[in-house]
Amino acid sequence: MLSEVTAIRYITPLREGGSVPGIVEADDLGTYVAKFTGAAQGRKALVAEVVAGELARRLGLPMPELVRLEFDPVIALGEPDEEVQDILKASGGLNLGMDYLPGSVGFDPLGFEVDPELAGRVVWFDALINNVDRSWRNPNMLMWHGGLWLIDHGAAMIWHHNWPGAAASAAKPYNATDHALSRFATEATVAAAAARLAPEVTADLLAEVAAAIPDEWLAGEPGFDDPDDVRRAYVATLAGRAPDIAGRITLTGAPRQADPPPQWLRPWVEGKAK
Ligand SMILES: Nc1ncnc2c1ncn2[C@@H]1O[C@H](COP(=O)(O)OP(=O)(O)OP(=O)(O)O)[C@@H](O)[C@H]1O
Ligand SMILES: [Mg+2]
Repeated sequence: MLSEVTAIRYITPLREGGSVPGIVEADDLGTYVAKFTGAAQGRKALVAEVVAGELARRLGLPMPELVRLEFDPVIALGEPDEEVQDILKASGGLNLGMDYLPGSVGFDPLGFEVDPELAGRVVWFDALINNVDRSWRNPNMLMWHGGLWLIDHGAAMIWHHNWPGAAASAAKPYNATDHALSRFATEATVAAAAARLAPEVTADLLAEVAAAIPDEWLAGEPGFDDPDDVRRAYVATLAGRAPDIAGRITLTGAPRQADPPPQWLRPWVEGKAK
C-alpha cells in the first residue's frame, strides 16, 4: 500500500512535463511531484505510474517513493496560469505524489556514463512494461546524488487503454533502438537482466503491486466487475509477458551509414594525397 499524505502548499508547476505536474509540500513535511488526475493524460497515466513504479522498486531499480496525495485546489488559488488552474481545479481529491529529488538533473545519454549491467536491467524492465517514453529525446530519468533514477511511467502498458485487445498488444515485441540507455546496454546484459528478473515477476509480486492502485482509479472500467477484476488483468498481462519478452527486444538498429567524405577530402581518405 502507498502511504497517504495531504498537500498543504502548492509550490510551482513543472512545465517541462507534458502533463504539467506540480511541486507540492505535504503534511508529512515532504516535498512531492504531484501528478494530477485532472491532466489531459487522465487517471490511466497515474495507474501506469503506480504499477510500473512499484514494480520497478520491488525489482531493485532506483525509483523514488510514490504516495497517495490528497489535494484541495484551494491551496493553489495563487497559481496565475489559467491552463494550470484548469488542471488543478479538476484534480480535487486523490492524486499521485512522487518523492521530489531536490537538485537532480535530467539524464542525458551523451553527458553521463551508465553501468552496462544497470542499463540492461532498465531496458529489460521497460520492455516488460512496454515503456515507449524513455528515448534519448525524452529520457525520463534523473541523475541525483551521483546515481540514475527512473521517473515518469505514465505512457507504459499501452494495452490498458484497450483491454479487449490487451493480450494481442502485450504479445508484440519491444523496439529499444531509441531507448536512452541502448548505447550502454548490451545483448548480454539484457539477457542477464531477464534471467535474473523474469523469475521474480511472479503472480504474487504483481498482485502486491496491483493492490497499490487506488480503487478510485479502477472503478467503472468497462468490461470489468470491480476494481479487483481490473487488477487481475494487470497481473495476467505482465505475468504473461515476463517469461519471454527478452527474446523480442530489438536493441540496436541497422548500423548508420557514414556519410561519404566530401570530394576534396577523398585523396586523403583514399591515401592518394601527396
Ligand atoms: N521526482 C522528481 N524529482 C525531481 N524532479 C522531477 C521528479 N519527477 C519529475 N521531475 C521533473 O519534472 C519533469 C516532468 O515530470 P514527468 O516527466 O514525470 O512529467 P510528464 O508530464 O509525464 O512528462 P512527459 O512530457 O515526459 O510525458 C521531469 O522531466 C523532471 O524534470
Ligand atoms: Mg516526462
